[in-house]
Amino acid sequence: MTETGANDLYGLVGHPVAHSRSPMIHRRFAEQTGQRIEFELIDVEPGHFEQDVARFRQRGGRGLNVTLPYKGDAFRFAERLSAGAMQAEAVNTLAWQEDGEVFGDNTDGVGLVTDLQANLDICLSGIRILLMGAGGAASGALGPLCAAQPSEIVIANRTYARAAALVRRLSGATPVIACDYADLDGRFDLIINATSASLANEVPPLPGDIVDKNTSAYDMMYQAGPTAFMRWAASHGAATVADGVGMLVEQAAESFLLWRGVRPETQPVREEIQRLLR
Ligand code: ATR
Repeated sequence: MTETGANDLYGLVGHPVAHSRSPMIHRRFAEQTGQRIEFELIDVEPGHFEQDVARFRQRGGRGLNVTLPYKGDAFRFAERLSAGAMQAEAVNTLAWQEDGEVFGDNTDGVGLVTDLQANLDICLSGIRILLMGAGGAASGALGPLCAAQPSEIVIANRTYARAAALVRRLSGATPVIACDYADLDGRFDLIINATSASLANEVPPLPGDIVDKNTSAYDMMYQAGPTAFMRWAASHGAATVADGVGMLVEQAAESFLLWRGVRPETQPVREEIQRLLR
């Protein structure tokens, strides 16, 4: 509780944030777990991240979710970092500690892996994964994906050099290679779209023979109805096709756990958002 006895203050910073589902998600989590929190949207103009976050903190703010385009700013802003945030070089959750220091975490990749394994029942161990994209979304996903011990991860990106740079930052037992879309070869068990192509209703230039009837396809984006990549995967016979609603709710649940020490049930919230998008 803050000194005034008011509800504890949390929020989402990004640009834009107006259409975010985060306030609804955290309100549901709070109702479910009996936590007294406020959650507000903070639209930060470019170049104003530090001052707006400082103002939020002065108003008693306890924690923030961070979305595009500020995950790199939040990474540099945090005074302590989780191993996942360090690996991703991106922070989507800030939490002020008792000693006043601000801790930065990245719950995106864990949210993705939880959605894949626990909600969609896709076992990642031993499978061949194609990860499309090499921006912040891909880099946040990579560590937790590797930790789930797939047999191989291929990172394909329009700009090959960015995929190669992501691979160079990694260390660990999972084989990870960078590739051009044109050089993709052989089938994949799971294809994850971490590009922003769906925002423009586009699909990266994928060869059709990388999908078969046992392939799962996952788009980190979501919208009302299937994304362009989901439609592409379904038309090529993929077994499971999912959007990023589950990842959104699971990453929020991980942030809520960090802030409040209790992990909410995600299923009712996932279902509620899915109903709204239908
Ligand atoms: P984010 O933080 O969401 O990952 P980003 O860092 O801007 O955002 O990265 C966007 C990713 O989507 C990049 O991998 C980008 O490819 P480039 O690195 O070549 O720019 C990819 N992307 C965006 N639009 C795309 C499209 N139409 N087709 C293929 N890839 C696309």
